[in-house]
Amino acid sequence: MTSIEQLKQDAPQRIDSAATIAELAEIENETVGKKSPINEARRGLGAIKDPAERGAAGKAINDVAVDLNARIATRREALEVAEVNERLSSESVDVTLPGRIPQRGTHHIIQQTIDEIVDIFIGLGYQMVQGPEAETDFYNFTALNFHETHPSRLESDTLYLDYGDTEGDVLLRTHTSPMQARHMEQNKPPVYIVVPGKVFRSDAIDATHLPVFHQIEGLAVDDNITFADLKGTLAEFTRQFFGKDTKVKFIPHYFPFTEPSAEMHAYTQGQWIELIGCGMVNPAVFEHVGYDPKTLSGFAFGMGADRMAMVRHGITDLRTMIDPDVRTLEQYR
Ligand code: PHE
Repeated sequence: MTSIEQLKQDAPQRIDSAATIAELAEIENETVGKKSPINEARRGLGAIKDPAERGAAGKAINDVAVDLNARIATRREALEVAEVNERLSSESVDVTLPGRIPQRGTHHIIQQTIDEIVDIFIGLGYQMVQGPEAETDFYNFTALNFHETHPSRLESDTLYLDYGDTEGDVLLRTHTSPMQARHMEQNKPPVYIVVPGKVFRSDAIDATHLPVFHQIEGLAVDDNITFADLKGTLAEFTRQFFGKDTKVKFIPHYFPFTEPSAEMHAYTQGQWIELIGCGMVNPAVFEHVGYDPKTLSGFAFGMGADRMAMVRHGITDLRTMIDPDVRTLEQYR
């Protein structure tokens, strides 16, 4: 059997079963390409002397070539259609599927609590101001009438910074009260401010202590401010924050920068809870900042934002507040 006859017999089946366009191209090359038996037979035609015989042989070769080329074209078209269909179905997008919801952040519960408390005071006519976390001994203690030997000045209580010329001059503020002095120094009365911010104490971490926590300070200075204004303001705040039936009581206390001083307790969730340190601004503080204590009076208060958040949400361990676990954080949404 000549190689052409062989080709005629085998090639159609190979072409029809080519599985990919690449495989088909290879078969094409072998069957009708430059080095195919067809091409070789064509080149051999010149050796046939008889014209009639040569014409018949040429036609026979051509018939095979035409047939194979047609088959290859048909197969290629079928494979191309199949490939397009395959792509369309594998790349198709189901636009009716629900979208993937991206992980969304949220304010920490302490920040939420601070925002809520500040908002209540803004509603009462106060302004929010903020102050430095690294503070001088003067604003943190001296201007607030702390005695030279007051125990909170000790290194066991206060974190001092190695900064400046005088040792023990710069510290991490232990409360937000220094902003009372700073603000009065820079602003004329009347003053109605709240000051949220971080405060620092040399405490070991346990369920009720963190070395970094948050306070919200308040200061009101005007003509004729009385203790009744203090009580009314803090009672109103507490009702807005914990609910309108929340009872409050004031118990005598001591702070160097207020006189008289008190602790406000609130009755919430079945018990009395100490919430806010407060008192009438000590005239000594007015003198430090250049305010006239004979014509002005005022009250100040300070509360722990972390503590307010805990009481509000029934959290019993302060360490929850610094838990970075997303499963904890996600509950703040
Ligand atoms: N600074 C006080 C504290 O940290 C709280 C306070 C503020 C008390 C203002 C009275 C007036 O405990």
